[in-house]
Amino acid sequence: MNDARQSLVFKEKISYEKLAELDKAYLWHPFTHMKQYIASEPIIIERGEGVRVFDVHGRAYYDGTSSIWLNVHGHCVPELNRAIVEQLERIAHSTLLGMSNVPAILFAERLVKIAPQGLKRVFYVDNGAGAVEAAIKIAVQFWANQGAKNKRLILGFYNNYHGDTLGAVGVAPDDMFHWAFLSLLPPHPRVPYPYPYRSQSSDPLAESLEATEKLLRQRRDEIAAVIVEPVEGAGGIIVPPRGFLKGLRELCNQYEVLLIVDEVATGFGRTGSMFACDIEKITPDLMCLGKGISGGYLPIGATLATEKVFEAFLGEVDSGKTFFHGHSYAGNPLGAAVSLVNLDLLEELMPQMPEKIEKLSSWLQPIADEPFVGEVRQAGFMVGIELVKDKKTKEGFAYRDQAGWKVADMARNNGLLVRPIGNVLIFMPPLVSTLDELEDMVQILCEAFRASRDELAKLAKN
Ligand SMILES: Cc1ncc(COP(=O)(O)O)c(C=O)c1O
Repeated sequence: MNDARQSLVFKEKISYEKLAELDKAYLWHPFTHMKQYIASEPIIIERGEGVRVFDVHGRAYYDGTSSIWLNVHGHCVPELNRAIVEQLERIAHSTLLGMSNVPAILFAERLVKIAPQGLKRVFYVDNGAGAVEAAIKIAVQFWANQGAKNKRLILGFYNNYHGDTLGAVGVAPDDMFHWAFLSLLPPHPRVPYPYPYRSQSSDPLAESLEATEKLLRQRRDEIAAVIVEPVEGAGGIIVPPRGFLKGLRELCNQYEVLLIVDEVATGFGRTGSMFACDIEKITPDLMCLGKGISGGYLPIGATLATEKVFEAFLGEVDSGKTFFHGHSYAGNPLGAAVSLVNLDLLEELMPQMPEKIEKLSSWLQPIADEPFVGEVRQAGFMVGIELVKDKKTKEGFAYRDQAGWKVADMARNNGLLVRPIGNVLIFMPPLVSTLDELEDMVQILCEAFRASRDELAKLAKN
């Protein structure tokens, strides 16, 4: 009955119109203004090849968002596909609760080998926010297990983003995204992130570290951990001055609080080194991983911990010290298998990154001169292009103007997918992109800015 050649999934050819109708009738898209979406002609992706995705009409687009900051080696990569198929023929999933599976063990060992020295334990989750949730809970219980039950606050940074589950939102609430939940959130303290661009302060790094120090000094008995993004991603690609992570590490040591570094966006080569922590040679107590961990193939995440943190959870069964936290799909064998091969490929790719990053920087230069661009910010393959109404005052466009979308739509028409967050157009190509592909993508971006000038000028007058 099951003819192997006949697809079980795609039983009949469905027209774009029908798919769009079904999509609008049944889906609720994440981070999407659904009213506008329903009125639009959405892109419906059918397949991917290399750094391009193809819609159901067969139109190709460069994946300039890496499918939301995930993709590393492109799409439909033979080695990654094979890793999944090989594992699939053994088993798709089995639980990690009280037992184990082969790829989860092998990948944990590989992760520990490449992670900052001292991170020795891998707690699997299935997405980035999940990695942050686990880190927050581990930090609080780490202290509670040692009798310090008042240490349950997490010190975070304004404008950082750690995901959308309530714990992650709690340490990084955003007025626009989370206004409806603010009353549900714990009173975690926050301090300014060192914002090196157009800062009012002559030394934003010192200002941020001083504010952190002051709070730690005053409230060390209440603070379990500091959580930080090594590069502010969703906040608009803000690259802090060198010395920030090191400064935080020293303060956390001095005041005896844990340091959680959220490498969900920056990990696995995105900034040009395997982890952003490697640049300043620091080891956090807890590190959150997601996104590029599986090369952008399957939903898997992990929270890495030092042995000191792990040991605080060892006790008799009735000691209450156990970490009672977990997800049904934690350590999914398919995800772990593809993540292992992702690392093999990544280790080959990393030596090529410095040249690619340097060339990307130089090609992006002309965009900085565009009349409505305030700044082009870059950390490796994370690029944020800030749109402003006025180049001198750097005043931004009103949110309702959706200025970033004007440029993104132009780029899309010319075959490049990019996505703005507020006034910042985020460009995150897959790491595997060749120099020719990168140059082509940047060309499309430059052209999109040029072609949007008149429309942006009209908006700027409002
Ligand atoms: C720094 C950071 N942390 C956490 C998350 C949440 O990851 P996920 O979307 O997989 O839950 C993101 C997602 O953009 C992120 O950029």
